[in-house]
Amino acid sequence: MDGQQLAVAVHGEPASPNPSPQPPAPNSRPPRVLLLAGPASYRAGAFATAARGLGLEVVLGMDLPETLAEYWHVPLGLDLTRPEAAADKAVAFAAGRPLDAVVAVDDGATLAAAAIAARLGLPHNDPASALAARDKLVMRTRLAAGGVPVPWFRAFPVTADPAAVAAEVLAEGVFPCVVKPLRLSGSRGVIRADDVAGFVAAFGRTRRLLLEDGHPPAQTQILVEEYLPGVEVALEGLLTGGTLRTLALFDKPDPLDGPFFEETIYVTPSRLPADTQATISARVSTAAAALGLREGPVHAELRINDHGVWLIEIAGRSIGGLCATILEFGAGVGLEELILRHAVGLPLPETGRTGEAAGVLMIPIPKAGILRGVSGTGEAAQVPGVTGVEITAKLNHPLVPLPEGASYLGFVFAKAATPAGAEAALRAAHERLSFRIDPAIALTVSR
Ligand SMILES: Nc1ncnc2c1ncn2[C@@H]1O[C@H](COP(=O)(O)OP(=O)(O)O)[C@@H](O)[C@H]1O
Ligand SMILES: [Mg+2]
Repeated sequence: MDGQQLAVAVHGEPASPNPSPQPPAPNSRPPRVLLLAGPASYRAGAFATAARGLGLEVVLGMDLPETLAEYWHVPLGLDLTRPEAAADKAVAFAAGRPLDAVVAVDDGATLAAAAIAARLGLPHNDPASALAARDKLVMRTRLAAGGVPVPWFRAFPVTADPAAVAAEVLAEGVFPCVVKPLRLSGSRGVIRADDVAGFVAAFGRTRRLLLEDGHPPAQTQILVEEYLPGVEVALEGLLTGGTLRTLALFDKPDPLDGPFFEETIYVTPSRLPADTQATISARVSTAAAALGLREGPVHAELRINDHGVWLIEIAGRSIGGLCATILEFGAGVGLEELILRHAVGLPLPETGRTGEAAGVLMIPIPKAGILRGVSGTGEAAQVPGVTGVEITAKLNHPLVPLPEGASYLGFVFAKAATPAGAEAALRAAHERLSFRIDPAIALTVSR
């Protein structure tokens, strides 16, 4: 589809049988989409490619200082951690080149996207709901107020005495529990603690991570929650005017019992009973309403146990890493295209997932060190059902495992007739991969 046809579809104007030699009227240009991403985004490329495929004009807004943005020819360098300042810059930009939609590619971009959209009057989640979907304490508070069952939770200052906090948790009878940062993702800093000693160690470790990341001690808190046992699923959805469409429900077949919560395998469709799946969708829908989320993608995680279906979190963005690669809707429409179509008001295809069962393995980092070599990628790629193997970690670069690390070694993708077949293909591929990781040499400076 070219830009002209697209403009007709979006703005509802009849196509002129005799194209005028005059410059196009302002509203006949292709829709212009601001894509907001971090510099290490796994997904900005996929969104930009999908946008160009739709004939949209893409403006990339990256979390970069102005000078670096200029150097890399990024049109808008923004500080995504300061949503209002980012909005000032985007509004100034839009005065010259009007923006028709804003899409947050990564978690860290959702607050700035909401602030920009609010200032430009574009349909989007409002800033308060974006905050509720980003900050785990605000989320738990709003969910509880909205009648969504939540585990016991309380936030403590990062500067609190861990032993005193542990005593309070013990008095509340909340062991086992998890400690977690309010605004990180990918399970960074999320640690299970079963007793007082484990709690003191976990709290200290999450505190160290937050402080080393540069979070100001006086304004930073750590959330403590009751540990919810059970199996875990992830729901990928799209909200339009507050109505949720479930795009895919993924089982996470590897146990996630802690102490760290490394994501590995996702497989869709889910093998849970249909009534449980319906309850999961309904729970996510209620949760979105409780947070005030109304537009765009949601990625939710839930745990299911004998006491019901529990929401771990709901984020106002789509699935991370390269996982969206395995999703296809209607006639070959990818998740990024679906999200962009929604953002600019283009008709959505039949949104049910199409194709066989599909799975993705996020290849975990087994230990800290320097990645020196990768072997077996060819053999892994040849496992029947495997559709791709992508090693994203860089050779000779340091690897940091959870709970501090923020990346994977790479991804394996698979398709099969059944979810069990897709899962088996991923496991077989993983067995064929091997990574040489040398210990990092600690450099000490002696005087
Ligand atoms: N209260 C809890 N009970 C059990 N497991 C939890 C709990 N909170 C988090 N987890 C586990 O830790 C993982 C990461 O926590 P989450 O709150 O989703 O943070 P993140 O934003 O880093 O993904 C979850 O997917 C889940 O496996
Ligand atoms: Mg999560």
